[in-house]
Amino acid sequence: MQYRKAGESGLKLPVISLGLWHNFGDSAPLERSRDILLNAFDNGVTHFDLANNYGPAYGSAEVNFGKIMASDLRPHRDEMVISTKAGYDMWPGPYGDGGSRKYLMASLDQSLKRMGLEYVDIFYSHRYDPETPIEETMQALVDIVRSGKALYAGISNYPQEKAIQAYRYLEDRDVHCILHQGRYNMLVRKAESEGILDCTAEAGTGYIAFSPLAQGLLTDRYFNGIPEDSRASVNHFLKKDSITDNLVATLKKLDAIAAGRRQTLSQMALAWILKDTRVTSVIIGASSVSQLLTNLEAESCLEFTKEELLEIDGILHDGGCL
Ligand SMILES: NC(=O)c1ccc[n+]([C@@H]2O[C@H](COP(=O)([O-])OP(=O)(O)OC[C@H]3O[C@@H](n4cnc5c(N)ncnc54)[C@H](OP(=O)(O)O)[C@@H]3O)[C@@H](O)[C@H]2O)c1
Repeated sequence: MQYRKAGESGLKLPVISLGLWHNFGDSAPLERSRDILLNAFDNGVTHFDLANNYGPAYGSAEVNFGKIMASDLRPHRDEMVISTKAGYDMWPGPYGDGGSRKYLMASLDQSLKRMGLEYVDIFYSHRYDPETPIEETMQALVDIVRSGKALYAGISNYPQEKAIQAYRYLEDRDVHCILHQGRYNMLVRKAESEGILDCTAEAGTGYIAFSPLAQGLLTDRYFNGIPEDSRASVNHFLKKDSITDNLVATLKKLDAIAAGRRQTLSQMALAWILKDTRVTSVIIGASSVSQLLTNLEAESCLEFTKEELLEIDGILHDGGCL
């Protein structure tokens, strides 16, 4: 596994991290979740990304992660970087959503209990909350780091202008913002077009990309319809009607370029993000050990020729995806 520094910090992360948004909640068999986690760790994936409400049910991914920590990974705690977040809907009433100090402080305490940890490595404000002064949210992050309940602070899904404000507020209090976590993949390029990658790099903060495979679209998962055990079949976060014949035809053309690089489409999609060294890591999801192991091989070829990049963009433009 290759490791990259998170911005200008001293913290190195694996170029491929594992996220527990799906496949680790109560609807997933614990033994399969355990296999995926342990295989990841055995292959150098030292970073595991969680949030308070990952499940379903909310909180259950943290509970299950805590079980696997207790049964297997506890002796390796110092070899791991564990992150969690608060910002989206978690519990009823006005204190279980958003960016208030009240929510962030209580949520982190609950997350630590669920995972059986004394501290997390990174605690994120999961989203910018327009109803809370950004100073309040950032001061909560500063105080959380000072309390020792998190070693580093990060932000996720912040628009550019608010991200810059966040970086400054934290820096002025000697709490460097370690990471900005955002959606970035071949199909979704707002991180480039809205200047997030630029301003994040300028601040010395690392960028970590989530849903790098567009929730499974940038793989061969949907080449022959919608499999029953796939994320799209649940029709919640990934909608069935987003998988059009036109999209599949476009993805198959990308797959042909990947084959020319001796990669699968998923490997090429991950490499495409990591070609930009401002990106510290991509956070993948996996519903099986075989998906995980396939994806981990992406790091063996992160370079692209100019022709390949032009061809990829041309295919995506022609397919109406960009
Ligand atoms: N900060 C935020 O707001 C935010 C938002 C979203 C995600 N995240 C983080 O990012 C992580 C990853 O997100 P994601 O799960 O959407 O990532 P993703 O890597 O884009 O998608 C993962 C899904 O793609 C499919 N897949 C993966 N490898 C495959 C392969 N080799 N062949 C075929 N299919 C494959 C699987 O779907 P099937 O289940 O259908 O097999 C898998 O569950 C999350 O766990 C979370 O930690 C953060």
